[in-house]
Amino acid sequence: MKITIAPSQDKRKIADYLVLPFIEDKKAPKALFAISKFSKIVKGPIETKDFQGKKSQMSVVYGSKERRIILLGLGKADKIDEFHISEIYSEVVAFLKKKKAKTVNIIVPEKLNISKEDLLKGIAEALFLTNYGFDKFKHFSKKESATYLKEATLIGAEKKDMALINKGKIIASGVNLTRDLVNNNADDETPQNLAKIAKTFEKISKDVKVVVFDKKKIAQEKMGFLLAVNKGSDKDPVFIMIHYHGDRSSNDHSVIVGKGITYDTGGLSLKPPTAMDTMKSDMSGGAAVLGAMYTIANLRLKVNVTALVPATENSIGPASYKPGDVYIGMAGKSVEVKNTDAEGRLILADALSYASLKIKPNRIIDLASLTGACVVALGEDVAGLFSNSEKLAKDLEAASRRTGDHLWRLPLYKPYKDHLKSDIADLKNIGNAREAGTITAALFLQEFVEKVDWAHIDIAGPAFLSKPKGLHPTHATGIGVRLLTYFFENLSIK
Ligand code: BES
Ligand code: MG
Ligand code: ZN
Repeated sequence: MKITIAPSQDKRKIADYLVLPFIEDKKAPKALFAISKFSKIVKGPIETKDFQGKKSQMSVVYGSKERRIILLGLGKADKIDEFHISEIYSEVVAFLKKKKAKTVNIIVPEKLNISKEDLLKGIAEALFLTNYGFDKFKHFSKKESATYLKEATLIGAEKKDMALINKGKIIASGVNLTRDLVNNNADDETPQNLAKIAKTFEKISKDVKVVVFDKKKIAQEKMGFLLAVNKGSDKDPVFIMIHYHGDRSSNDHSVIVGKGITYDTGGLSLKPPTAMDTMKSDMSGGAAVLGAMYTIANLRLKVNVTALVPATENSIGPASYKPGDVYIGMAGKSVEVKNTDAEGRLILADALSYASLKIKPNRIIDLASLTGACVVALGEDVAGLFSNSEKLAKDLEAASRRTGDHLWRLPLYKPYKDHLKSDIADLKNIGNAREAGTITAALFLQEFVEKVDWAHIDIAGPAFLSKPKGLHPTHATGIGVRLLTYFFENLSIK
């Protein structure tokens, strides 16, 4: 889809639909555009009160230029922020897709209490994110792509606004890259393929350098946990590192880590079939980190960031790592593996050790589809946030509020560390059955974070939806990409 602009109503080309924005007001909905040419046409729905301008309300009337005109409600003026805007326009796109519209004219609302920047970026993101689909495997059944929008024109946007629209496009492309990686077959998105995609990021800018450790180098670095989890797989593990050096005048440096389990069978502690059939999504943290590096580098943000993605399948076979055995990771700590299905925290432990011992950054943020318990606690809309730093938590929560990537903070409640005590090793990899499984997973990770601001985000719920919803037309949402982009954008202007 392309987004084009038209400076005024008269300069527009005729499209399949025209969208007119209104806010809800005491007596009657208020038009947020020059209404004179439309006053006749909108009279009926407004006078009958069929259209009240409530949030996401749409009434279709019939006109002479665009034959179909949508009166769109934005709700009450004081409730409107960038996030609301993208939610509302996402519903418009979903409606247009259903109607098989190919082109749409959208009059950009005026007189709203948010900046034009937020407004246009919100609309552009909604357009690009909702117009996404994943139908490459629909061979005989109807392809959805036949119903995608081809062109949207923002009426009232000027040439100089194109930069904002392009920014929205870059961010949405990052999200859609992540969605593709997660939606694709696990047999295609192997550790090797993730590494190959990371490599292509060097083409974005000379500030990007990609290094991939193979199995031999992983062994040299003593990443015993990553090797252990990999034992049952027919594919080698990789440890992907993407360096982005966007601010040469600063020593500030962040590390982002993403769980890259390209398929999680559970290993010998095998998952039941109904828990396994979504586990191609278990690299969604790694995919989010890749998507975020794509946007950060393309937006040329003034920050220094290294992304780490430890990647392997957690498979089952004669060589699989074994419940009851003890393995030693990069930091030298030993872990009694009581359950091979708690594999994410193991490979993350090696990545966090690598970050704290070798890279020594100012902050570390990890994203992982880590625990089913987090889905029980927070559902599919919200990811769990843990942090040892009030500031980092606050900044991530601020980024979260500006996007649809919702976070809710959970406690690193120290007394539960007891749950991770082992009789024979430094730690065991699971806590007590049914008790605070998300917290004990986070506490396990914390054991591998050395004196650095750190945040852990458990995206097990929102990464892969049980059914498409709102801005997310497919199961994979790309959660984390917008969050990290806004977080680093904010860091770059400090
Ligand atoms: N990848 C799963 C967590 C998961 C569950 C992600 C549901 C997305 C949706 C993780 O590796 C796992 O299996 N965790 C176990 C941990 C347990 C054995 C302590 C779980 O949550 O059951
Ligand atoms: Mg598992
Ligand atoms: Zn897993």
